[in-house]
Amino acid sequence: MAEAPARSLLGGDPLAAVELFPLRYPWAYAHVQQAKHNTWFPEEVPLHDDVRDWHERLSDEERRAVEMFLGFFNPMESLVTTNLLLSLYRPITAPEVRLYLARQAWEEANHTMAFEYVIKTLPVDRARVFALHTDHPDVAAKEAFQRRLIEGWLVEPDISTVEGVQRLCHNLIGFFVVLEGIFFYSGFALALAFRQRNLLRGLCSIVDWVLKDESLHLSFGIHLITTLLEEHPEIMTPAFAQTVQQLILEAVELEERYNRAVLPQPIIGLSADALNGYVRYVADRRLEELGLPAAFGNPNPLKWMATQLDVPELVNFFEARNVHYEVGRERS
Ligand SMILES: [Fe+2]
Ligand SMILES: [Fe+2]
Repeated sequence: MAEAPARSLLGGDPLAAVELFPLRYPWAYAHVQQAKHNTWFPEEVPLHDDVRDWHERLSDEERRAVEMFLGFFNPMESLVTTNLLLSLYRPITAPEVRLYLARQAWEEANHTMAFEYVIKTLPVDRARVFALHTDHPDVAAKEAFQRRLIEGWLVEPDISTVEGVQRLCHNLIGFFVVLEGIFFYSGFALALAFRQRNLLRGLCSIVDWVLKDESLHLSFGIHLITTLLEEHPEIMTPAFAQTVQQLILEAVELEERYNRAVLPQPIIGLSADALNGYVRYVADRRLEELGLPAAFGNPNPLKWMATQLDVPELVNFFEARNVHYEVGRERS
């Protein structure tokens, strides 16, 4: 208990100079090292063939689905950055954990630039894409869900009470597990289904890179949440566990509604029912990663997703167990 305040996960001196070693949270530092190997830049991926696909091979429904995908991802990437910097960087003070938060913020900014690159290169209706998150009720509902978690936290950034730490934990689950671990994975499946039909291969290469980053963000988030719960077991009351479960079930409902709007008819061999089955499958994995019981019991209807991932060395969240999830968990 003789920890210097600056080494605490929460509530140390927010202005303390970064002194990394000895590490208290080696898993966080391991994630920083892994992230460095994932450095990439959007313009490395040519999109000429995607532009040709857009003009010559995509149907109106398929173009509309891509716009819906971009219309959600683009604003959410910047909201994740905002949450990292405004909600998390202040109360979280462990230096190696902050180091990862800073690295992740750069990656999220890179994702924003990546989707901007796609939006300005493909002949999408730019105004329509940017308006979707406010004008389309099913996109707006998902954004409202995320904003609720961040606004509630900004109003009262107090971690001195059980309720305050619970609010922080809610925020972590809402962003790392729901947004990055469920909403984004559902979007990745939609986008990568185009590659199954040999379409939009450039966009799908960018999605591969984003997915590689998001897998790591999710893994980091689960480590952070489990560490917070270990250090603050008082917050995990039965009522809190229930609100966490409800948060995830609410997110699944929002995602299912959104997917039905994106896919009123099956396109590129993908139906809303199949995609929503995948959402339920992924949501069960997330519940289990949080130590909660699975809610749906769905098998994975999109088996091809597991083979699409160019990230075997990272985290295989599509299996029933996380093969590499334990990397860096050797904290005492
Ligand atoms: Fe991102
Ligand atoms: Fe992310």
